[in-house]
Amino acid sequence: VDVKQVHRTGYHFQPPRNWINDGQPSDPNGPMYFNGTYHLFYQYNPKGAVWGNIVWAHSVSKDLINWQRLENAIYPSKPFDKYGCWSGSATILPGNKPVILYTGIIDANNTQVQNYAIPADISDPYLRKWVKPDNNPLIVADKSINKTAFRDPTTAWLGQDGRWRISIGGRRKNRGIAYLYRSKDFVNWVKAQHPLHSTARTGNWECPDFFPVSAYGKNGLEIDGMDTLAEGSTVGSNVKYVLKVSLDVTRYEYYTLGTYSSKTDKYIPDKGMIDGWNGLRYDYGNFYASKSFFDPSKNRRILWGWANESDSTADDVKKGWAGIQLIPRTISLDPKGKQLLQWPIEEVEKLRGKKIELSSKKLVKGDKVEITGITAAQADVDVTFSFNSLDRAEPFHPSWDRYDAQKLCSQKGSTVEGGLGPFGLLTLASKKLEEYTPVFFRVFKAQDKPIVLMCSDASRSTLKDGIGTYRPSFAGFVDVDLTQKKLSLRSLIDHSVVESFGAGGKTCISSRVYPTLAVYNNAHLYAFNNGTQIVTIDSLSAWSMNNPQNMNQ
Ligand code: FRU
Repeated sequence: VDVKQVHRTGYHFQPPRNWINDGQPSDPNGPMYFNGTYHLFYQYNPKGAVWGNIVWAHSVSKDLINWQRLENAIYPSKPFDKYGCWSGSATILPGNKPVILYTGIIDANNTQVQNYAIPADISDPYLRKWVKPDNNPLIVADKSINKTAFRDPTTAWLGQDGRWRISIGGRRKNRGIAYLYRSKDFVNWVKAQHPLHSTARTGNWECPDFFPVSAYGKNGLEIDGMDTLAEGSTVGSNVKYVLKVSLDVTRYEYYTLGTYSSKTDKYIPDKGMIDGWNGLRYDYGNFYASKSFFDPSKNRRILWGWANESDSTADDVKKGWAGIQLIPRTISLDPKGKQLLQWPIEEVEKLRGKKIELSSKKLVKGDKVEITGITAAQADVDVTFSFNSLDRAEPFHPSWDRYDAQKLCSQKGSTVEGGLGPFGLLTLASKKLEEYTPVFFRVFKAQDKPIVLMCSDASRSTLKDGIGTYRPSFAGFVDVDLTQKKLSLRSLIDHSVVESFGAGGKTCISSRVYPTLAVYNNAHLYAFNNGTQIVTIDSLSAWSMNNPQNMNQ
């Protein structure tokens, strides 16, 4: 057992171990599917486990599970990216030609410009080498733009007028902005008079992502020519648009659903959407700088997010690496049209090994049932709980903040007795519960309908001292219909990460945790109930998860 590496993940994407320095991966960049291969690029510091010296690292895969690391694809080498190659996106142009747009840093003041890169040899199946043509940079900030907050170009889309569009993140004072640029030839770009969208008091917008989702079913939609889908009389209502931004100040993301057409070239969030800090989030935990892409081989849209460490920088340096990519998720519109649904890509199920099942198991107040027979430190758990009545749900106090789920979770933790809940899983738990990361629900009564709180609470996850670490009681509300009196939960557990999906992917929370006792075979998994209402485990399946054959580890 390599004690130094107890927190290294088994099936989450990390750069290879035993690299001279394992380094720091961050933002996923330019994900794409091209000629049968998935490409993932990501922001990477090749020189250490902290942020800096940014290049685009590159890995390829046939199945999004087994990855092969290649040489860095884009790295500082020209005046237009001498101080760093920051985030960006890939677009596949007509004729099956991939092109990458990325932000180059040109001076020590962090001045940002937008560049492009193309494959050196399009017949290389892995597209190992990328060239940055001499007509870079393509876009520099005009006088109206803050040139140190002007970055992370999106995948391009084609309007009905035949011109390409991209969006770039930024800010004016405290207003977050998604700038819009248009081009006929992908080389000459002109700033549109109006941004795609902007919102007051949100601070700088990083890593904007803009894409269509189908109003019916789970199939993904190509971004290419996306607004042709929305126009026309018959299909007009078949499409919704998503704009996601990453908030520099709080280091979390929010998204809205809305409308868009290339005639007006404005994105307008739907009525009722919260366009700001209290907006909907892909993930209420450690999840940042995410990016989606359309996978034509399975007609789906896939979302990649990055989870940084929550441990101290000193610990990151000691273990020699920091940051993982979370399991890719398929993303689709919830049938009610008010939020997205996310679910781990089906390929992750290929890693499932030994399985155990449980059903019709009653949990009365204080019960804690151990799920034995699987590797609890590296597992996939899918459980549905049911209950006979909502009567015992605690009242939701009118003075509580309807948007501050995290605060509520920190006060009403997994051990605080409730009515309907808290019930759920204790993941990465030590035998005597000195350490555990509970993932659970708690249902409250409110005037119109019940309010469901979902928590993934890192506050008791480790006995390590807490200096310089972050162990929040991550939480979100779940907008779920409880008439069936059921709540489901899926958790992907992997040594130092717990990724959870509530109610079929309506609310998702990822936590990074660093147990000292609950490691390897000393990690345990329990189902629990600390509410007075009896809760039944309707069905539970749990699997040991295998390591991918090739993660270059
Ligand atoms: C987001 C971000 C991006 C930027 C990149 C630099 O994490 O700050 O805005 O392009 O990281 O590594």
